[in-house]
Amino acid sequence: MELLLAHTLGWSRTRLLAEPHAALNPAQQATFAALLERRLALEPIAYLTGEREFYGLAIYTDARVLVPRPETELLVEVGLAAIRRRLALPTAPITVVDVGTGSGAISVALAVHTPPPAPVQFYACDIAADALAVAAANCARHGVAARVLLRQGDLLDALPAAVRGRLDVLLSNPPYTILAEVEANVFAHEPHLALDGGPDGLAVYRRLLAQVPAWLAPDGDLALEIGAWQADAVRALVQAALPHHTITIHPDLAGHARVVAATPAT
Ligand SMILES: C[S@@+](CC[C@H](N)C(=O)[O-])C[C@H]1O[C@@H](n2cnc3c(N)ncnc32)[C@H](O)[C@@H]1O
Repeated sequence: MELLLAHTLGWSRTRLLAEPHAALNPAQQATFAALLERRLALEPIAYLTGEREFYGLAIYTDARVLVPRPETELLVEVGLAAIRRRLALPTAPITVVDVGTGSGAISVALAVHTPPPAPVQFYACDIAADALAVAAANCARHGVAARVLLRQGDLLDALPAAVRGRLDVLLSNPPYTILAEVEANVFAHEPHLALDGGPDGLAVYRRLLAQVPAWLAPDGDLALEIGAWQADAVRALVQAALPHHTITIHPDLAGHARVVAATPAT
């Protein structure tokens, strides 16, 4: 409620706390009432305020995209480590892809944290054109539009043939839930295309990993966000796709398996 009030007034939360008796004019009262009604229908606050903080960045968010989750910051950490390891070698420039970019949160965070002159080319792909419009807004907002190329298409088919077999770092937070098991408020408001992992939650991993050997460089890094219960199944799929890579499962702060990473054997 406090957040919605601050949003209606165009104030920071700190100012609202300092001036708790702020009066709303009639237009603001109507706006606030409409926001409260949407919140009572359990619409995510990020859609109401148009913003969610992710990796310290204000990411523009609306109903066209999944609200970026704090768990996904771990995928950014793993991706950044892989990118920085490569930047320390004389083999740069490097190519990074974020499959199913949605709001663009992952690519934007990575690009902001590897500023020029780091020679990194990002591709942020999604099958949904309306999600890519949100990603474009976020790339512009954070000044990385020149380094993050947005591509529409099905998984890696979105990419230009020139990068086939040359991707250095491939990251994805794909749809991995079983729709019938998703919380009611998430099901009601967030895009099903961003959530639907098929009957067992693994459908998109299977299709993506079937493409990976042809697109990833032989010494490329892969990291995939997973649901905690999917670690064994996704590990097996990754191992089958990249039999010579070393697989690591990274837990999130709550101790749940959250990222399956494959690094080239040294
Ligand atoms: C779980 S959301 C992740 C969004 C964002 N990367 C994040 O972490 O907040 C999955 C995204 O994958 C996209 N997607 C679903 N199926 C896809 C496909 N076949 N090819 C490319 N993107 C797809 C959805 O539109 C959605 O934006």
